[in-house]
Amino acid sequence: FPFIGYRNDELYVEECAVKDIGNSVGTPVYIYSKAAFEYWFKEFDGAFDEVERITAFAVKSCSNLAILRLLSELGAGADTVSAGEIFRTITAGIPSEKIVFAGVGKREDEMEYALSCGILMFNVESEDELDVLNSVAEKLGKVARIALRVNPDVDPKTHPYISTGLKTSKFGVDIERAYDIYLKAKNLKFVEPVGVHFHIGSQITDVSPFDEAAGKVADLVKVLRDKGIEIEYFDAGGGLGINYKPDEEVPSAKSLAEKIVPYVKELGCKLITEPGRRISGNSGILLTKLLYVKRNDRKTFYIVDAGMNDCMRPSLYNAYHHIVPVVRGDSKEIVDIVGPVCETGDVFAFDRKIGKCKKGDYLAILSAGAYGFTMASNYNSRLRPAEVLVFEDRFSIIRDRDSFGDLIKGEKFFNR
Ligand code: LLP
Repeated sequence: FPFIGYRNDELYVEECAVKDIGNSVGTPVYIYSKAAFEYWFKEFDGAFDEVERITAFAVKSCSNLAILRLLSELGAGADTVSAGEIFRTITAGIPSEKIVFAGVGKREDEMEYALSCGILMFNVESEDELDVLNSVAEKLGKVARIALRVNPDVDPKTHPYISTGLKTSKFGVDIERAYDIYLKAKNLKFVEPVGVHFHIGSQITDVSPFDEAAGKVADLVKVLRDKGIEIEYFDAGGGLGINYKPDEEVPSAKSLAEKIVPYVKELGCKLITEPGRRISGNSGILLTKLLYVKRNDRKTFYIVDAGMNDCMRPSLYNAYHHIVPVVRGDSKEIVDIVGPVCETGDVFAFDRKIGKCKKGDYLAILSAGAYGFTMASNYNSRLRPAEVLVFEDRFSIIRDRDSFGDLIKGEKFFNR
């Protein structure tokens, strides 16, 4: 993994020994590499350099202000799904004219907020939403720029929970219905169709579904233009997968670009992409400490101080995360790596062969930069981890570990 790897059997993030960060900040802690973020952003954004574009980072994958600031300095826009994400994004310095707002269930107050911020466009996901947006915009005396999120009905061949472009999914509108809805939008006074949007799923490791989807959507754009609906933005969503194992091969961003760019060029549109995981996933790790080793006649358990509340992906999707000892030795053993949460599902790995560790050793859960901290919760009243950003040989805490005060913030006793 670029910028995250061993030097003489000790794990480093850039020039920082991970062990030193653990000793200084405590565990569990998310550790991100600035250089890795830059590397992955440029790999993705650079692949599309033939066309005018906005690379709108999917904020849901990793939303710390310092990370968003870093990406804004690289020229990123943002793909957001709530008023809260828009707030974060703007606070971090990403210009509002590079923000798109998706989501099947936008509330009116969120629409008002987004309109008042002057975001680039709303990715509208239903006819009902279109009507509500029109009336909210009227109330504010504004015109909402929109793209319709269309559902091209292609199978991205990924985990069912993160497939979003099939007819059976709640997202977007059927591509066959899109034409009628665009005509309706064109006749509404306070919305202006300026784009088209699709997003077929996440952790996609075969680029052909993108080709199929982009082709279908490009055909729609041609039909719309014949009817005088000028589509300026072609928003191809996110979803490009990453390697979760060190030796796994996944498509390059360039190979994705080769599928999408020809359509965009032919249409003369501006391209929007919404990569999340591809940029953040392999830019961060979750550092945890081995609390106890428990052996019985069937199993050896490594009980670590991170739990499913800190990193949900293994429990929720049965997702594979590579886990390595921070200081590696020669002997290995087969273990279950489990968290402290009172749930049988609080397991990071079953029957995993891993470098042998003892009580007090650090372990790193790799590829944890995307959908790691952002999906963390306080379940079991656990304090969410700190977040640290590494830059060369320096590191800085970019979010404090939760405190007891954070845990009960806003709670009140019943007031008679
Ligand atoms: N655009 C839209 C409209 C999305 O819904 C998503 C992700 C993205 C972009 C970014 O997708 P990415 O490039 O990161 O694949 N929690 C799950 C992933 C959920 C993805 C939701 N939507 C996981 O941990 O695998």
